[in-house]
Amino acid sequence: MDEPIAERPRRPELWRADFSFVEKPALDLLDGAEWRMIEAQRKAYMQGRQAELVLGLFAAARGDPSFGYTLSMYDHGLQAATMALQSGADEEFVVVALLHDIGFTIAGPSHGEFAAALLRPYVSERNRWVLEMHQIFQTHHAHDHPHFDGRERDRFLGHPFFADAADFVARFDQSAIDPSFPTLPIEAFAPMVRRLFARPPARRFQVEGTAP
Ligand SMILES: [Fe+2]
Ligand SMILES: [Fe+2]
Repeated sequence: MDEPIAERPRRPELWRADFSFVEKPALDLLDGAEWRMIEAQRKAYMQGRQAELVLGLFAAARGDPSFGYTLSMYDHGLQAATMALQSGADEEFVVVALLHDIGFTIAGPSHGEFAAALLRPYVSERNRWVLEMHQIFQTHHAHDHPHFDGRERDRFLGHPFFADAADFVARFDQSAIDPSFPTLPIEAFAPMVRRLFARPPARRFQVEGTAP
């Protein structure tokens, strides 16, 4: 097999015609005017691209084969969101249900943290905690699992959001692997995802304040 050959990276298209490139090859070299320009462009870019890339990552699981459940992880997310919507939950919670397993395959053992980190700037601390903890609380429903300890969640007894996490997995997660349950398509939820990511991120996560 041929050895890979290093080449100069191809210059991408600019996202917008009124954007400009920073031509310098290292951040150390940027001056104040260039930083102001790149920050302004990044803010617009993030606002315009983030939700679409999140929806793209969610959709990446659409055609995935199954490891055993009779619906895909893509449909599991849609079904959880459908159940949440039909329960009368608010839009933020519906998106939480939709995306709770967005990192299921790529982040496996830490996929709850993955979803929590993704949504943290845009959701309540309650919903962030539910996302992070849903893996642990889920084990409560794996009654005869050879390795899970269904009492693992008990170390969080007394936490103000304990009941929320328990309720989420009971009603919208462990029960959302039902191939007979009519499930709404992504078109029902994509506008909700776009509205959530259009919220101003919590101050400490503002795009202007992030590291490059
Ligand atoms: Fe999960
Ligand atoms: Fe799940």
